[in-house]
Amino acid sequence: MRTVGIIGLGYVGLPLAVAFAAEGKRVIAVDSDVSKLEMLDAGRSYIEDVPSEALSKLVRAGEEAGTAGDAAGGSILPTGRYEDLSAAEAILICVPTPLTENREPDLGALVGTCERLSKVLRQGQLVVVESTTYPGTTRERVAPLLEASGLVAGVDFNLAFSPERVDPGRTDYTLRNTPKVVGGITEACAARARELYEIVCEQIVPVSSPEAAELSKLLENIFRSVNIALVNELAMLTDRMGIDIWEVVEAASTKPYGFMRFEPGPGMGGHCLPVDPFYLAWRAREFDLATEFIELAGKVNQQMPYHCVSKAQRALNDIGLAVRGAKIALLGVSYKAGVGDMRESPALKIIELLRELGAELCYHDPHVPSLSELGMESVELQDAVRDADLAIVVTAHPSVDHEVAIEGAKVVLDLRGVTRGIDAHNVVRL
Ligand SMILES: NC(=O)c1ccc[n+]([C@@H]2O[C@H](COP(=O)([O-])OP(=O)(O)OC[C@H]3O[C@@H](n4cnc5c(N)ncnc54)[C@H](O)[C@@H]3O)[C@@H](O)[C@H]2O)c1
Repeated sequence: MRTVGIIGLGYVGLPLAVAFAAEGKRVIAVDSDVSKLEMLDAGRSYIEDVPSEALSKLVRAGEEAGTAGDAAGGSILPTGRYEDLSAAEAILICVPTPLTENREPDLGALVGTCERLSKVLRQGQLVVVESTTYPGTTRERVAPLLEASGLVAGVDFNLAFSPERVDPGRTDYTLRNTPKVVGGITEACAARARELYEIVCEQIVPVSSPEAAELSKLLENIFRSVNIALVNELAMLTDRMGIDIWEVVEAASTKPYGFMRFEPGPGMGGHCLPVDPFYLAWRAREFDLATEFIELAGKVNQQMPYHCVSKAQRALNDIGLAVRGAKIALLGVSYKAGVGDMRESPALKIIELLRELGAELCYHDPHVPSLSELGMESVELQDAVRDADLAIVVTAHPSVDHEVAIEGAKVVLDLRGVTRGIDAHNVVRL
């Protein structure tokens, strides 16, 4: 396989493009967002896990090779034209699969992509869907849309589903050493998809169908969502009981079998956990089954920002202050440590609730320079906590020294357990 096409150059697609190009493949990288294409053309990465230097070399090589170029060596050609994909032997679809306002699957981007792809699809190409979705999407939605080309899935072109398992910011498990699940609509489709991923992954896990592959991804995310909800519910209970949840989790984690550690926090963020489980909940209704665990976990996790704000209120009350007019610094606003991704971040809800209560807010986050829609910009840590009535550790980035907050703010509310082991009178934990 010499040329790989990738549609959707976000958190999933761009690292994939770099991985294939790093293995000497020519990557035709398609996105509909002109601003992203401009950044790529300038060799500028907008994904923290992808360094600009490596990217710009590959893009330069791609521009030199062009669409029809056959120069040896890896390269990336950023383009908005689906027509350029005709040169690819395999095409990976990595477009967003969000929820609608009614919390139902929004397959708009996926459908739009398939419609455009069907106009340029060639005999013999392999198409793999990587976007997370409900079981049945590849066979029931993607295949018919691509067959508008006049080609038949599984006969004239290969079709498979392979879920992306990337964990942004993580360095111990990468695309290379994380096993890759693959399910094809025929055995030949699965075999070709396997051949493709063997270029960039050490271990391929074949399953018997795209449906099994689609559901395996949802199971992984539902597992996390349910377990996070469980420990969050216990955190709300231990708060009333006067027991330290962190100590409890720590103690339970010493069991060498039958227990897996999950930590409480201000709620679930990111593109996956707050969204993906509801793809299955929606699909399950078609089969007359209400997936209670999914709904319950969603409900508990959505309560967490409210619980955290009520803790903030109590922390201020204990030093004789009201939220109205209090100076509150949020430390870390992205949805997880070490990255700048704000999607569904619980910090957004916490900011909204504290603003409604009349707090004077500022934030420090080395990964999020500004929250323009909220009219806020990150301020230096020292400046954020100096004279703050309350500092709230919403997301604990490893590069932030939280002891500075303990020294600067009247009270620190730690929602991530990073102050454990620090003996300070002015710290309150979740
Ligand atoms: N971010 C993660 O950690 C992660 C992990 C596993 C799976 N996923 C899944 O992977 C998929 C992509 O997620 P992401 O985080 O990379 O999204 P993203 O929003 O970062 O990137 C998607 C890209 O697709 C582009 N796009 C949208 N419609 C398009 C179209 N019709 N044609 C061409 N390009 C189009 C967008 O401009 C964007 O650049 C989703 O289904 C998501 O659930 C994400």
